[in-house]
Amino acid sequence: MQTILVTGGCGYIGAHTIVDLIENGFEVIAVDNLSRSSAHSLQGIEKITGKKIKNYNIDLTDKKAAEQIFIDHKNITGIIHFAAYKAVGESVEKPLDYYQNNIFSLVSLLQLAVQYDTKHFIFSSSCTVYGNPDTIPVTEQTPLQQAASPYGATKQMGETIVQDTATAYPLSTILLRYFNPVGAHPSIAIGELPIGRPQNLVPAITQTAIGKLPTMQVFGSDYDTRDGSCIRDYIHVCDIAHAHTLALQHSIKANKVNSCEVFNLGTGNGITVLEAIQAFEKVSGVKLNYEVGPRRAGDIVAIYANNNYAIDKLGWNIKYSLEDMMRTAWEWEKSLAKAP
Ligand code: WQD
Repeated sequence: MQTILVTGGCGYIGAHTIVDLIENGFEVIAVDNLSRSSAHSLQGIEKITGKKIKNYNIDLTDKKAAEQIFIDHKNITGIIHFAAYKAVGESVEKPLDYYQNNIFSLVSLLQLAVQYDTKHFIFSSSCTVYGNPDTIPVTEQTPLQQAASPYGATKQMGETIVQDTATAYPLSTILLRYFNPVGAHPSIAIGELPIGRPQNLVPAITQTAIGKLPTMQVFGSDYDTRDGSCIRDYIHVCDIAHAHTLALQHSIKANKVNSCEVFNLGTGNGITVLEAIQAFEKVSGVKLNYEVGPRRAGDIVAIYANNNYAIDKLGWNIKYSLEDMMRTAWEWEKSLAKAP
């Protein structure tokens, strides 16, 4: 069995990816210092897969501590690196925390990958690297724009660091640019756990619907789009998770060195904020208490993916619809409300 190290394995996309890796025959080790996630994810993973995952509670900026994982496990085939801070607003207030955490951990991990001869490396990137694109849908060749936040800058820098490392050392690397991951595993044993007041649309919708938040705002209705609200490419987290398994299998099969490939992970469908709300209301039967407010600073008007490359090269099939995304997100929110 091939062993994969998943960093940020207790986080939202990390936990869903661990489930998918196990279901596809990989052995998984997690590393997560639980600074932005919960060990409950490990129970959820066990509930779904029947497997107990070992998690190293280690801060990856501490290279010495991280090295222990490689000493304990001599045959790590690949690394999927999710662990990072991801709050856009917080990154503007605390840029050095973001550079320290997201960049130092990446550099340490790549140094260890080189030192311990781990061949395959997958990096969590983001559509945020495209900034405000001139044309949509964006392909992997669409020129990157200046990052709108220190968080976005860490993703752009991260991509460069991975590319340069792959050029210099015998690694096979993949950059996965996520669009807007939403929803929860259909078992409802794992899902998203936003910290504090949710900044992202779908948790804001579900928390308002359940009554955790009194109301929510649609940020702007005067954009040049079909209903005046912003357009995004929402994608089910399980579709994103499976793309990691496929990317890893592709990397292992191709067995290239000095390579760095880039894939967009989106559905290719642009959905407005108001359409997302309508889809939620339809599947939940709940009338959402929202109001139209002013635009949010820094928001991109419209972005969605051209995902042909991931479909053709990885054999990726998107399984979940917008309704599935909303239904599972809602079931997850309701399960949190019932939890002791
Ligand atoms: C989606 C749409 C909001 C909340 C973030 C990160 C980005 C990338 C993807 C990871 C926008 C609107 C939201 C609310 C609203 N992440 N909205 N009311 O803006 O695409 O970007 O996720 O790398 O870096 O910034 O996602 O979920 O915040 O917003 O109207 O209460 O929903 O204006 O149009 P976004 P989001």
